[in-house]
Amino acid sequence: MSRSQLLAMARRNLAHVKAGTVDQAADVYRVPAVNYHDPDRWNLEMKRIFKRLPLLLGFSCEMREVGSYRSVLVADIPILLTRVQDGSLRAFLNVCSHRGSVIVPEGSGRGTRFACPYHAWTYDNEGALRSVFKEEDFGQVDKSELGLTPLPVAERAGLVFVIPTPEASLEIDTFLCGYDELLAHHGFEDCELVGRQVLTGPNWKIAYDGYLDFYHLPILHRETFGPDMQSDSLFDAWGPHQRVSMPNSEYLEFEDLPDEDWELEEVLGGVWTIFPHVSIADFDAGGKLYLVSQLFPGPGPEESTTIQNFLATSKPDAAQRELIDEQMEFLRHVVQDEDYATGNRIQKAVKTGAKSEVLFGRNEGGGQSFHRWVERFLEADDDALPGLFSTGEGGVSDKRDV
Ligand code: FES
Ligand SMILES: [Fe+2]
Repeated sequence: MSRSQLLAMARRNLAHVKAGTVDQAADVYRVPAVNYHDPDRWNLEMKRIFKRLPLLLGFSCEMREVGSYRSVLVADIPILLTRVQDGSLRAFLNVCSHRGSVIVPEGSGRGTRFACPYHAWTYDNEGALRSVFKEEDFGQVDKSELGLTPLPVAERAGLVFVIPTPEASLEIDTFLCGYDELLAHHGFEDCELVGRQVLTGPNWKIAYDGYLDFYHLPILHRETFGPDMQSDSLFDAWGPHQRVSMPNSEYLEFEDLPDEDWELEEVLGGVWTIFPHVSIADFDAGGKLYLVSQLFPGPGPEESTTIQNFLATSKPDAAQRELIDEQMEFLRHVVQDEDYATGNRIQKAVKTGAKSEVLFGRNEGGGQSFHRWVERFLEADDDALPGLFSTGEGGVSDKRDV
């Protein structure tokens, strides 16, 4: 099913190549400039998007072994992920039941017992409170009621999704709309996490706009990716998740081949985004190197943090390691010094009120769709949330809900 979707997208791409066309939305779309800096709106985005939807918080490959863990901070919410005895993953609020201390510092490692740094209450990796320091002096408490608060968690396509709110009821499969079947072709489960670096940027939506935007590539990135980079793009969508690809003239070679003779590797390119905060692209570093960017809103509407995660398809040798380090430095430079430097200037400029709105062209349908989905989530109360997703529809642009 997902293979046929990939090939349908490739053939659609080919049709655009032959016609010399790109995807065009019905109209130019306008976004109020205030959406990028208004604190009330930002608070609503935190509540109705980042605290209500599954977020990509890690990779199966970095927590393969039973007893491994990862501690992360998401919009100030401390979260602990653990791989437990039966091989499944658990997620918890990383907050002590005694007086609210964060228990496990940010980072990853191995360990099945976690002692709170404040008064040494100790939890196991299934979230149970196992010991209370000087329990006889502390007084009677029911330890079985004082475990870590669990969060909804799921692994799909080698990616770890968590909803950072305990009572969240949205099904992760409802949210993914079948997109994980496509993502599975990248084989993240079998990858190695070979690097991670943190960047800071403007409002999360200004930052995210850039990942859906090929229009700027030959202009803003003329010194790095080069002036010959294409600015044209095609968009495919699964609910709010989008793949952005360039018209690819190499497909002309395969035009007459039956679908079964097309190599999947040839049709997996482009930028794969996962709403609301992830972009996946691949580069070369002596072998395929994935850059999985996770964007998180910063402490306020004018800042964001991006974690660039690098995944290689196999364990790198020394020569590849050097190429990976070079590629990581290059991609840090491109994103921090070109994209986010521009974004930070946009942030300051829109806040002055210089423009009342910003524009997304007919050729920027990805950005249009993203902002429309943000609006939908902000408008939907909890009961309306599952109804926003239509599962079973996949992939190709004429089903795209721009
Ligand atoms: S706050 Fe954790 S043991 Fe006191
Ligand atoms: Fe860019």
